[in-house]
Amino acid sequence: MPVGRIFTSVGCPYSEGIARKARNVKTVPGFFLPGMLVLGKDEHMATWLDSIAVPTLLLDETRARRNIERMTTAARSGGVHFRPHFKTHQAAGVGAWFQQAGVRAITVSSVAMARYFADHGWDDITVAFPVNLREIAAINRLAREIRLHLLVEHVAAAAFLASRLEAPVAIWLEVDAGYGRSGVPWNDGSGLTALATAVTNCPLMSLQGVLTHDGGTYAARTHEAITADYVQTTTRLERARNWLIEQGFLGLAISVGDTPACSVVTDFAPADEIRPGNFVFYDWTQVQIGSCTWDDVAVAVACPVVSLHPERNEIILYGGAVHLSKESLPRADGMPTFGAVVLLDEGGWGAPLDGAWLRSISQEHGVVRCTPDAYARLSERVGVGDLLGVLPIHSCLTADLLKIYQTTGGERIPMAPIPAFWGMAVP
Ligand SMILES: Cc1ncc(COP(=O)(O)O)c(C=O)c1O
Repeated sequence: MPVGRIFTSVGCPYSEGIARKARNVKTVPGFFLPGMLVLGKDEHMATWLDSIAVPTLLLDETRARRNIERMTTAARSGGVHFRPHFKTHQAAGVGAWFQQAGVRAITVSSVAMARYFADHGWDDITVAFPVNLREIAAINRLAREIRLHLLVEHVAAAAFLASRLEAPVAIWLEVDAGYGRSGVPWNDGSGLTALATAVTNCPLMSLQGVLTHDGGTYAARTHEAITADYVQTTTRLERARNWLIEQGFLGLAISVGDTPACSVVTDFAPADEIRPGNFVFYDWTQVQIGSCTWDDVAVAVACPVVSLHPERNEIILYGGAVHLSKESLPRADGMPTFGAVVLLDEGGWGAPLDGAWLRSISQEHGVVRCTPDAYARLSERVGVGDLLGVLPIHSCLTADLLKIYQTTGGERIPMAPIPAFWGMAVP
């Protein structure tokens, strides 16, 4: 950034206004940082945007709270228990917004995450990942403190738990309803019976029902296709449940959960519980599926602009795979894109810019490709040292990488510490 150029947070009308107002602001020659502005009486006051130096995860609290409220209401009017997945936000501060919306039970994806939320007051937690026997000590600690729910999908896991559990746990049989990830196949009657028998033989395990995650809705692109997928999944789960009832396992519930279906389906029957997670922030993937609109996307990554290349209509960002993840979506021309580009201001961000997209990322670099028209418009508003926003392809992974939120209201919200450190002696 040339010495003496006013640092505008972003190339947006608001920051241009700031630039105009602050034209006479003095800077420290040769070493320019936003905090070093010497402000005149009516000049620009530093905002949270000015404090951003490196790729930073922005969170629009109003949008996230609205997403929470909408899903809470959908669950209530659909007559299903709402157990949102907290793997997306992984933050006690965001969890509090759910609590304020009336949520009392949650889902997480690891024992470490369950520990973190139990330490922050949550006492009814499902670890929605096949139980990892090597964490039995941490599982027993948690089971003594909270109502802990675990997933089993292999009789060896159930047998191990039966021999090593020291406190009661609630158990769900994970069923594969066609997604092909983990779970007993929905139509494997003898497999389901063997697993349910292994669980119910242990007095410390109480069988709750059958549970699945339907990744199939992620391939849908219309509400009809999402609903059709949901109906197929829940019909299969119901068959598995009914089979178990016939074998004498009574009182079993059905738990499902994926953001596309939970955002779109109006009749959740025969499910008893839903566990969506991504909906709290949504992302470009969900917009493409049709689960939400751009206006619902509640996170963006603020990326410093480090260079411009007019000869190829490209802008280079400090913001790569270690910040955004390597997830991509195919564009109409078949080439991948790694994020949508937005202008930022103190109020947040606007709609994605037409004709500008993140065309490639490496570890730290992001390369924004523009159409010639879009480049001409954008380069008038954004220079080296400014910020551009990127709306992520998959907000769960992006949040997991960045570890702290900067809200557009100016607050910082930390996420759970890195689980790998948990329980390990640091040399
Ligand atoms: C077991 C399980 N439940 C619930 C969810 C939440 O689904 P979504 O990310 O679509 O909100 C996931 C996501 O991976 C999952 O694996």
